[in-house]
Amino acid sequence: MNTKKKKRIVSGIQPTGNLHIGNYLGAVKNWVELHETYDAFFPIVDLHAITLDFNPVELRKKTLEIAKVLVASGINPQKAPIFVQSDVKAHCELGWILNCVTARMSDLKKMTQFKDKSQKEGSDNATVGLFDYPVLMAADILLYDTELVPVGEDQFQHLELTRTLARRFNKKFGDTFKIPEYFVTKEGKRIMGLDDPIKKMSKSAKSKYNYISLMDSEDEIKKKVMKAVTDSDPTITYKEDRLAVKNLINIYKLLSNKSIKEIEEKYKNKGFKEFKQDLSGIIIDFVLPLQKRINSISDREIEKILEEGAKKATPIAERKIKEIRKKIGFLH
Ligand code: AMP
Ligand code: TRP
Repeated sequence: MNTKKKKRIVSGIQPTGNLHIGNYLGAVKNWVELHETYDAFFPIVDLHAITLDFNPVELRKKTLEIAKVLVASGINPQKAPIFVQSDVKAHCELGWILNCVTARMSDLKKMTQFKDKSQKEGSDNATVGLFDYPVLMAADILLYDTELVPVGEDQFQHLELTRTLARRFNKKFGDTFKIPEYFVTKEGKRIMGLDDPIKKMSKSAKSKYNYISLMDSEDEIKKKVMKAVTDSDPTITYKEDRLAVKNLINIYKLLSNKSIKEIEEKYKNKGFKEFKQDLSGIIIDFVLPLQKRINSISDREIEKILEEGAKKATPIAERKIKEIRKKIGFLH
């Protein structure tokens, strides 16, 4: 029998915007695989979602929706708790403690994601919460003695900061936090926009032709795929410099489990019309059953799952925060 303890993984997802196939292929699909072999926790990070302008009705809706997507995609909440970050109060508390005893203004000023996001808001109008976002993220991770964090490349700087904060705390107050490793899963690492293959497919894109949402209808998917940009070369071949075509073949590959070679071979004497028709078929065959599973989960059912998730996460987080409170000199 293998008695080795499974490594702990934590990864968060924000309940904002429309989840698209890039989120699925770049994050959710990998989580489904990881939760089989690791001791995984998946917080839905609503406290992070309020760092930018938000609507309460929408926030509530998205929180439930994302939880449903995770379950419908194959994450078994018995194996890997799915919970709402704000339900586990220790996240905020540790965030504050890290703010005061480890995080420096100069660290946070270096964060490129803050610079990008605050520029969009008009720098002076960005909230203090947005500035402090990476410290709360560090708390999400450190609270669970996390060993591994699967993230997108855009989060590497935040993970380096998490490691720095953990080391500073350990140095000052004695060994308390594990220093987490992070990694990006290679497959589906970056799905690009269908209307502009230079940029990542994004839920905040201006045009809906940029992404395929997991909630899109059959007709919308067809329209979006047929409109996807290609280039002047009429052959269907995978080359590094053919950004748009490479991206479409990549999506085809990830959703059909066919190799690039097989795809190239299949469309050797065929044109983009046929390729795109087939690609939209493949996406539809993936998205519609997923939608059906999502819609079969009631709000009540998912609330129950989230409640149970929080019940599993809370004692672990509480044990850790208690240890921390003691170390820094709080009475209880
Ligand atoms: P976000 O939507 O930016 O909050 O990201 C949620 C998760 O999806 C993160 O793990 C991202 O790295 C991942 N993700 C977002 N957009 C893409 C994309 N276009 N391709 C691959 N992964 C993505
Ligand atoms: N900042 C992450 C993102 O936008 C979300 C996140 C919050 C997260 N807390 C986390 C990811 C903890 C990993 C671990 O994708």
